[in-house]
Amino acid sequence: MIKNNILSIKITKESLCFDDVLILPKHSKIQSRKTISLETNIGSNKRKLILKKPLISSPMDTVTGESMAIKMSLEGGLGIIHRFMPFENQLQIVKNVKRYINYVFTTPYKINKKESYELLCEKHGVKTFIVETDSNEFIGLVTNRDFKNSVGKELKYTSYNNLNKLYYDKYTFNKIINNRNTEQFKNFMLSCKLLMQKHNVEKCPIFESIIHLDIYSAYGDNFKKTKNLLGLVTMKSVEHYFNNREKACLDSQGRLCVAAAVGICGDYIERVQKLVNVGLDCICVDVANGHNEYTIKAVKSIRDKFPSLVIIAGNVVTGEGFIKLSEVDVDCIRIGIGNGSICSTRLETGIGYGQWSAIVDCYNTKIANNLSTKIICDGGSLGKTGNKVKALVAGADAVMLGRTLAGTEESPGTTIIRNGKSMKYFRGMASTMANISNQESSTKKAKIETNFTAEGVDGVVDMKGSVSNILDQICGGIKSGFSYLNINNFKELENIRTNIEWVKSSTIGLTETNTRIKTF
Ligand code: XMP
Repeated sequence: MIKNNILSIKITKESLCFDDVLILPKHSKIQSRKTISLETNIGSNKRKLILKKPLISSPMDTVTGESMAIKMSLEGGLGIIHRFMPFENQLQIVKNVKRYINYVFTTPYKINKKESYELLCEKHGVKTFIVETDSNEFIGLVTNRDFKNSVGKELKYTSYNNLNKLYYDKYTFNKIINNRNTEQFKNFMLSCKLLMQKHNVEKCPIFESIIHLDIYSAYGDNFKKTKNLLGLVTMKSVEHYFNNREKACLDSQGRLCVAAAVGICGDYIERVQKLVNVGLDCICVDVANGHNEYTIKAVKSIRDKFPSLVIIAGNVVTGEGFIKLSEVDVDCIRIGIGNGSICSTRLETGIGYGQWSAIVDCYNTKIANNLSTKIICDGGSLGKTGNKVKALVAGADAVMLGRTLAGTEESPGTTIIRNGKSMKYFRGMASTMANISNQESSTKKAKIETNFTAEGVDGVVDMKGSVSNILDQICGGIKSGFSYLNINNFKELENIRTNIEWVKSSTIGLTETNTRIKTF
């Protein structure tokens, strides 16, 4: 007989999934869920990355490329550009996202008449270029509209005369564009908008005048106009500024926020440096096992070199794993092993932990150790918004989405039509197919290895339209969930998390939870 149970093998914990639990409602004074804010900060220890929606697209090659990252950020969430492509491509995508909305482009790209407009667009991810004379004097701009109207080899451009340009002295211009939350900046954007509308153009070039002026005298002619281009404002930027900026996730310069993934082998530090140089807001150390010493060391070396960069790392499921990554000053930890829709880790390795229990364990550890590290619930919400609410209420600051966003207009990959149904290919990053394409794109191996044990699967998902609608639906559900609990924002949630009452459901209880009629 074993005395005192010292050497016995024990089940130490229960492993609960989202469907195993329900939240009891609380007396609520919230009249309308419209007033609820879902703003969340995924930075910690004085670093900030504020998302307007607590939703992050997963760094998977069938989920987050350029279009997804742009849309996620426009909608107030965050996209993490996956790392399963040549690094130059990933870097270019980050550059493109950062330039997508840039209220004032201070270094617009140039085109010379011998260059291919299409190739330049592909290279830089923009559709507007400056045309100059041989002596580098500005003549006009080539836009997509000009390109479409060009016949034969002669590339058309829109010429700009003194009437459809704005002039500022350098000092005032710099002051305006470096203080974007001011009335002065708003007036500046309005001047650009009015000028573009008046002349029926979509770009407004701004040139230097050499007498000090204030914004209101920009139309006057009591200053000397030069041919020195200070910047370019586009109609798209103006429209975004006036209609969308409250909604989007923007950096201090008004550019879209974006994250990118790196691995923990080879030149990852140099990669982070290059990504940071082009304005990256957050790095995600993207490996399956965050409990591993090598992952922790890699995160530490990134933190040592980039003290102010927001770092996401993972994945862990235990309090111990959570503490170890927090000790190297990571901002935000991905929780989840084997819970994703395409994961087979639990089946192949026997390792994992029910996603609700994992989040609760990590959150309790966080509170007990007074840590400020943030929590991301990574995947596995089974396409149910209620499970995302459960994740947030149990301790997560944001939810990472894979399958939910695969099969949208913005996810990478082509649409496949089978039996009249539109679908898109979707795969786990540890699946056989992902592993093979990763070897093909990142190594120069003569022979591709295929005899590894895959921990993910691949398949198809139905097309589901635009990301915007999906995020709106999810946020509607989250707000409604918060309203049942009398929570107006994440700060209030933080204050009452440990008072929330959870109840255990049963397998038969799930029948009651699920709908039971034929649905459309
Ligand atoms: P959902 O459920 O949102 O999950 O599709 C997305 C998350 O799943 C993880 N992931 C994997 N896990 N094998 C795994 O065990 C894989 O091949 C795999 N690919 C992705 C990842 O954390 C993602 O965010």
